[in-house]
Amino acid sequence: MTNLWKYLVYPPVSVSDEKLRRSFASKWVVVTGATSGIGEALTLRLIHAKANLYLISRNEQKLQLLCQKAKENGCEASYAAIDLRQRDELDTMCAQLRDSLPAVSYLFCNAGKSIHRTISDSIGRMHDYDRTMDLNFRSTVALSLALMPSLKMAGGRIVYTSSVSSRYPFVPGWSAYHASKCAANSWCRTARREYKRLGVKVQLAYMPLVHTPMSDVNENYRNMPAYSADEAACILLRLATSGKFFYKPWWAI
Ligand SMILES: NC(=O)c1ccc[n+]([C@@H]2O[C@H](COP(=O)([O-])OP(=O)(O)OC[C@H]3O[C@@H](n4cnc5c(N)ncnc54)[C@H](OP(=O)(O)O)[C@@H]3O)[C@@H](O)[C@H]2O)c1
Repeated sequence: MTNLWKYLVYPPVSVSDEKLRRSFASKWVVVTGATSGIGEALTLRLIHAKANLYLISRNEQKLQLLCQKAKENGCEASYAAIDLRQRDELDTMCAQLRDSLPAVSYLFCNAGKSIHRTISDSIGRMHDYDRTMDLNFRSTVALSLALMPSLKMAGGRIVYTSSVSSRYPFVPGWSAYHASKCAANSWCRTARREYKRLGVKVQLAYMPLVHTPMSDVNENYRNMPAYSADEAACILLRLATSGKFFYKPWWAI
């Protein structure tokens, strides 16, 4: 029964190596949140497809390992080990990227953080809202603005990892997370229309539950059927190679 449920709600997703090579080989791809979960699975797929990578997260050791792996596979690779919530660090990195990266074909804005806390438990914790907004929303905007000339040069794409829960009636406890994801959704919807004339595509993945270190913190989620990180990476890659504006699971209304 559990397997049937998983199969229906989370139908298998895959993407062929051949298709990925055709779309990504030798293209510059920027990935935020590359060191864990969905972003790490995405990075491994991109290495296999021989993309050139610029990886962004905080865990420098992991970033180094991934870049080493990419170079061993014949890709160019570089990284920035930064906390995307720190505005000064983000500004400095954006300025460097503007100057150093050639045409960028894909920007995957995937780094994210979820917080489960009710509003009444958030008194004195305004930083919960600042941190989720800075990471889930503001860093996406900052990177998109900084890379716009490079994206325009390549006729590139911005792909944002949103959450399917941002399309549902909101449940208690997720005010910070949902507010930040909805802000990013709204920005992407506007950017999609404005950037069209520049030849840059903006795409949104309303991701359902995925087993990653982020979701598995929650015991209820840990035991529920969900996509694997690699399946979620395939969803992002399929979206990024399609003409669609967004991905959502078939059951999401
Ligand atoms: N898992 C799910 O069920 C699910 C469902 C819907 C949407 N999503 C979205 O999917 C995206 C990826 O999540 P995940 O589940 O793969 O989580 P994850 O395994 O916790 O990975 C999060 C990534 O973001 C990076 N990150 C976190 N805080 C950061 C910061 N302050 N500065 C820079 N990088 C930071 C982490 O790297 P470092 O720790 O090295 O910085 C890590 O690489 C998120 O945007 C999340 O909202 C997930």
